[in-house]
Amino acid sequence: MHNFTIDSDIRKAETLPSIFYTDKRNFERSKDKIFARSWQLVCATDEIEKLKPQIILPDFLDEPVLITKNSAGFNCLSNVCTHRGNILIDDPCDATGIRCRYHGRRFDLNGKFLSMPEFEDVANFPSSKDDLTKIPFGIWKNFIFASIDPIAPLKEFVGVINEKLENFDFENLKFESAKDYRVAAHWALYCENYLEGFHIPFVHQGLNDALDYGSYATETFSYSSLQTGFDPEGNVAAQYFFIFPNLMFNFYPWGLSINIVKPEKRDRTTVSYLTFVNDRSNPKQGAGADLHTVELEDQKVVEAVQKGINSRFYDKGRYSPSKEKGTHHFHQLIAKFMNR
Ligand code: FES
Ligand SMILES: [Fe+2]
Repeated sequence: MHNFTIDSDIRKAETLPSIFYTDKRNFERSKDKIFARSWQLVCATDEIEKLKPQIILPDFLDEPVLITKNSAGFNCLSNVCTHRGNILIDDPCDATGIRCRYHGRRFDLNGKFLSMPEFEDVANFPSSKDDLTKIPFGIWKNFIFASIDPIAPLKEFVGVINEKLENFDFENLKFESAKDYRVAAHWALYCENYLEGFHIPFVHQGLNDALDYGSYATETFSYSSLQTGFDPEGNVAAQYFFIFPNLMFNFYPWGLSINIVKPEKRDRTTVSYLTFVNDRSNPKQGAGADLHTVELEDQKVVEAVQKGINSRFYDKGRYSPSKEKGTHHFHQLIAKFMNR
């Protein structure tokens, strides 16, 4: 097992060693050590309200999970039958209850066991073990998050940002589109690139014209960070809010673009883009204009780094104290979670 140490003094610190990205065991361990212990975005609240399904299935860490809604509110439940482990629900639906198609066990939308045929003679039955496991979940603004075993409450991951987004119109956010990008690189390489604006003048010509590189600012919090980009006139052009380990909320004058970074394999990642608009009179211009081009530019450099970290001659590097604060903070969190 590898122990990771990142000096908290950025001037002395070295970056994560390449073994974190190249070793298969570290990739597997990161699922339990990092992803199971942090919060994952499962859906937007209006997804479940508007489509009127009472049950939806988030794509959650290869863990079969259901989000249900009834008059009492939302529930996040295991989607695995407590009898012999069948998957209960395959498609979003507006069912009023859950019935397993294998042997007919029934549950309500709170996950409570209701009935089971041919079990009359079973001793000590039913017990609370026959209910569906409740999975910790939380709501922030328009979004539902869940966690398998959270290291801290959701508000410690997201709460700090509320005052910085005071003027953002969450109420009128409307889902616009979804798109997946496949990246041939480790998930953390994709995130750490996102966490610094250092590369903007080198990698993103178009974006560099829309942002004032000199006034670009990074703030770090317990489990999140915020990068603020200003346009050449000094107005906020974009706020890039990162929730450890893999959620990117990008606030623009026209709305919100969310990137969910999903690890597939050690060197394969899917990045899901979800776009929400809140003001159609604010055209997509400036820093939030051509996200597709910026994404392809980022992918190209991240995929090159993926090749580079496999080199026998590369292990770690150093940080720019003025420009790589976000990446340093991210590496410290990775070390903290992986060493627990
Ligand atoms: S596995 Fe669900 S009722 Fe048997
Ligand atoms: Fe970039």
